[in-house]
Formats: sequence, structure tokens, C-alpha cells
Amino acid sequence: MSYRNDSDSVELGECTRNPGYKDADGDGPAARDNISVSDSEEKRDSIGVKRLSDARDEYTQIKPYAGMPKEVLVLYSSKARYRVPREILFWLTVCCTLALVAVTIAVIALSPKCLSWWQASPVYQIYPRSFKDSDGDGVGDLKGIREKLDHFEYLNIKSIWISPFYRSPMKDFGYDVEDFRDIDPLFGTMKDFEDLLAAMHSKGLKLIMDFIPNHTSDLHRWFNLSRTRDPHYEDYYVWTDCKPDGPKPNNWVSIFGNSSWTYDEVRGQCYLHQFLKEQPDLNFRNPDVIKEMIDIIHFWLEKGVDGFRMDAVKHMLEAPHMRDEPQVDPNKPPELVTTEWDLHSDYTTSQVGLHDILREFRAQMDIYSQEPGRYRFMVTESYDYEEVYKTMMYYGSRLEKEGDFPFNFYLLDLPHNTSGVWAKHLVHLWMGNMPKGKWPNWVVGNHDRTRISSSAGRLYVRAINMLLLTLPGTATTYYGEEIGMENINVTASQIQDPAGKYNTSASRDPQRSPLQWNADTNAGFNEKTNLTWLPLHPDYETVNVEAQMKDDGSVLAQYRFLNTLRQSELPLNRGWFCYVHADANVFSYIRELDGLKRAFLIVVNFGKESAVTDLSSVRELPDELKVLMSTTIANDGKVFPKSRIQTEVGEGLVIQYSTNTRFNPNHPEECYISEKACYLETIDILYKC
Ligand code: GLC
Ligand code: MG
Repeated sequence: MSYRNDSDSVELGECTRNPGYKDADGDGPAARDNISVSDSEEKRDSIGVKRLSDARDEYTQIKPYAGMPKEVLVLYSSKARYRVPREILFWLTVCCTLALVAVTIAVIALSPKCLSWWQASPVYQIYPRSFKDSDGDGVGDLKGIREKLDHFEYLNIKSIWISPFYRSPMKDFGYDVEDFRDIDPLFGTMKDFEDLLAAMHSKGLKLIMDFIPNHTSDLHRWFNLSRTRDPHYEDYYVWTDCKPDGPKPNNWVSIFGNSSWTYDEVRGQCYLHQFLKEQPDLNFRNPDVIKEMIDIIHFWLEKGVDGFRMDAVKHMLEAPHMRDEPQVDPNKPPELVTTEWDLHSDYTTSQVGLHDILREFRAQMDIYSQEPGRYRFMVTESYDYEEVYKTMMYYGSRLEKEGDFPFNFYLLDLPHNTSGVWAKHLVHLWMGNMPKGKWPNWVVGNHDRTRISSSAGRLYVRAINMLLLTLPGTATTYYGEEIGMENINVTASQIQDPAGKYNTSASRDPQRSPLQWNADTNAGFNEKTNLTWLPLHPDYETVNVEAQMKDDGSVLAQYRFLNTLRQSELPLNRGWFCYVHADANVFSYIRELDGLKRAFLIVVNFGKESAVTDLSSVRELPDELKVLMSTTIANDGKVFPKSRIQTEVGEGLVIQYSTNTRFNPNHPEECYISEKACYLETIDILYKC
């Protein structure tokens, strides 16, 4: 097309004058620049301009129509009445986008970390032999667990730890592993495991496995290769010279009693076992052993397991010099030194290098924790009663991550001295020593310890569950605690636990009896035959899940209520925890969150007498306090003046109140929080503060 055209080509001429038209086809200005315009042409053009401006008027009168030539369209759209709104819209969009980006960044920067799954729900421990037997052999199994997943939905529990179900000769009921990559036939097959995991995940439940790094079974392939001195496996275990009938290499004793050394005839040496002689200790000074264990961790993480409870970790390394450990009573004749209580376990536990290995395990788990919602959780088991600082080391350091938390066993000691002061002391052992910013946790029972209902007495069961579910941090519930199950009596001839065979009083059978589902034969644990591997507790006809589901005032109903409350109330699931009062009977504390008017006062009577607690000096509390929930159902809804809060022995109260004055700013020494967050009521959000 040529620029210099007569009136017939007016459309193109118009386009060149259009201020909004800038060279739509790319050759306009260039073409114009090349034109040398003569005088006569200029004259002609001035006539043309007039004609063109007429034409423009004409065009602007035209209504837009489909298929309009581009040039006309451009001319049309460059009119102020279209251009201005267009520009306004354009800048508005730019500003809004920028504002949105800024708000998003601010929200991300100001948001506190969301609670992860292992923080949001209690951990429920299943002892698989005793949970539910699906095939009628009298021992619980994986299919049985799968049948009962609704129980967790009912309780609002999301994290399930299952004690070991690896292939095992069952000398220590699965804590003696013969093959870390296989399921024991007693519990089912690998397919049963995969089906269970899939069923759990589809219900939003997480599966935590037991991981047993310290030892294997003596039937493990590695041990056979080690005792026959296979070059690769020779140093997989802790071996040392000794004579078949001679003295032991040193005075070290097993947790289950007597020497921790056993002579092996095949190899002609002694091997170390800190537990049963059928549980030889692995040698973690051998890098190949660490690598094997990491491979096993990978194996289960690949399968989709959500976390590990790491068993007996403090025993993983021993001092290479193998010197005698100092006796607690130096005057005791050495032949009478036979239990762990006789020695300071300076050379068999908590050795330098242990945390490096655990941090390596954690790092491996982190590799599998990258996808959203797939965080892999790690909890360590180590009893270091007198040395709380040793336990706290399993939290890792600021620079290096380790377990998400080490199990806190201090509350297992509640029954030793049921009082408010004692309860506070035990709680404070953790809160006062936990590294800043870490997440607490509480255990009141497990497969190794007498059930708390038996040691503390049934009277305190509800109060203990209330404590567990209203303290800050993750609660662990051992199967049966949600209904207040008690220990069974096991006669000498009924003993199953190897520890009990060494020493009847050390038997752990009493706390491992089958879960009481209903009042039917075998308490619904085994619906097929009349077998149960341990006797049932005779109270199962009244103390069982089914009966308690029907009773609003049952231990189960209260557990469920408190757990649900905890998960729906910000002050309870992530707020401040502040001590308010402790005396011979009562322990009381506040849970509150900055910015939120709603707060909770917990008053629990762990003592031996009913009590009237005077909290009138706590000016942050309102004068009248209304009970939201009492473990003594009759007191639900009661209103107490804050100077006279009444509790019976074993009674716990959750009092919900409204306040504008928070307790924590005035009493920083009495208060703890893992990660501070504030609540903005107007727009219902949490933010870092
Ligand atoms: C842990 C387990 C216990 C087991 C021991 C040896 O302490 O909880 O049941 O006997 O380790 O594996
Ligand atoms: Mg060891």
C-alpha cells in the first residue's frame, strides 16, 4: 500500500493521523520518512486534510460492527471516552496486583507456623498383640487394627503409633527383629500392612512405626554371618574375647538383669546384649551398620510410613574401652551386681556420637518430608529420669534437627505422690528444662509401665486424662487409657513377658491385656475363638468401648470431649500455659492466647481430700467462673466465685472465661509458649507477634 494516495485511500491516511495508532503493521513511519513532499503535493494535502477530517467525523459516527478493519477500530477506540476508562482500568489492575502481592508477602511473613499433624493430635499407641484379633488365634493383628479404624475417628485422634510387627521370634514380642523388611506372620502379610496404611491414609490417619536400632534378634541373618566371621558382617555386633566358663569381659549388666555378655560357641567370643541374650547389640561404630539402618528407614518411608518411634536409643553406642562401670554402692560384692540399678551406666548409654547418628536418621527422614502434608515425624525413647538434660538433647540443637521430641515419661511418676504440688513439679521438670521454642509432650502409660489407672488408682483416671489433654504439647495415649483400663493380674504360670520370666515382679504382661471393646465373649477382642494370649481384665463387662460410647459421662466420652475441645480451641492447642496455683491437693493453670478474649482455667485435684481453692488474688480472672466441663458430671455448668472453687478428690474442671486482661504479660516467669502467636479478632486470623 502507498501512503500518497488520493481520496480513495483515505482510510490509510487517517490512520497515520491517529494519535493512538503507532505503526500497526510496522512499516508506517518508515514509509513516511522516505517521502519527499513537494509544494504542490502539500497543497493537495491540505485539501486532503479537510477531506480526511470530514471522513474522520464520519467514521467516528459509525457504530462498531463485526469485521471492522483494524485501522478503523483503532481510530474508534482511541477516542477519549474509550481510552480514558481503559487506562484507568489498566492502572487499577496494576495497582491491585501489586497490592495483592504485597498483602500475600505480608501474610506469609506474619503468619505463625501451622501446627503439624504430630502436634495437632494425640499419639495413640497400639500394642498390636492386644488391640484386635481378626483371625481368632488369640493374638491381635494388622487386619484387626484395620477393622477398628473408626475408633480413631470417634476419638478425633489422627496419629497412631504401632509397636513392632516385624518378623520376629517374639522373645521380646517384636522388639527382637529377625527381618526389618518383613511382617511377622502372626500379624499378617506385607499386603495386610499396605492395605492398613492405605486405609489409614484415606481416613487422614498417620502411621508411626517402631524402629529398633540398638539390637536385632539373634536369628537375624546379620548375626549368623557375624558369628561365622563373614568378612563383611564380622563387626556388625559388639564382640570381645572371653572364655566359655570364665569371667565376663566386664561388669556390664542387661536391662533385663544379669550380665550383658553371652559366650557364643560358634565364634568362640562373647557378644554384648543390653537387653535379652536373644537381642545382640548392633555395633554402631561400624559405618556399614549405620548404612544398613538408613536403608531400612528408606524402605519404610518409601512405603509411605509417616514417622518412627526410635526404641532404646541411649543404648546404641558403648565405650570402646569396655571398662567396668562404677557401682552405685561401691561396697556391694561384685557378684551381687546384677541389675541396671546397681551401676552408673556411664559406658553403656548416651555415649559421644550417639546424637550424630540420630541426626543423620533425622536428615534422611527430612528428604521424605518435602511434599506438603508429608512431614515424617521422629520421636525417641530414652529413660533418663535423674538427668533431664540428657533427655532434652534429643530435641537437637538450634543448628541441627533431631527428634521432633523425646518422649516425656515424667508423668508416669504421678502416682508416687498424688498431690497438686507433685503434679506441678513433674510438669515443670519438662517445661522448665525444654529448649526454647520446642514442643512438649506427655506420656502417662505404655507397654513397659504399669497402667496409670492401677498405679494412681481408678479415682484419678479422668483427672489424668484431663491433665494430658489440656497441657501444652502432644499427648500420648496407650491403648485402653481412653476407657480407663486397668492392669490385669497374671499368675506365675501365665507369664508371657521374658522380662517377667527373669523376675516376676518385672513382668510387663499386666499392662498388655486385650483391649476391651464390648461385653461379649473375649470383650470383642477375638470374635472367632475363645483364645486370648493374655487373660482379659474381669471388669470388661462394664469397662468397655461400646458401653462407654453410650454413656455421656464415661471416661471415653470425657476423653473425646476434651480432645475435641483441645483441637478446636486455639488457647488449648497453641496458646500460653501459665501456672496459677499448686497445693497439697490442687494443681491449676491457665491456657490463653494474646488477642483472644476466650481463655481456659484448669483446676485439677490430684490430692487426697476435697478442696476449696481461692484464686481471688489472680486479678486477671473474672469474679465468677463457670465450669465448662467437670470430670464429676454433676458439676458441669456450676458457677464458682473465684475465691471458692470446689473440687472433689480426682476431680478436674475446665473453666472457660472471657477476659480483656491476659495473665502472661504480668507473670512471664510462670508462663510458657512454644511459638508465640496472636489472634486478630476482627478478621479472625493468627499472626506472629
Ligand atoms: C524398649 C521397649 C521395650 C523393649 C526394649 C528392648 O524399651 O519399649 O518394650 O523391651 O526397648 O527393645
Ligand atoms: Mg547398643
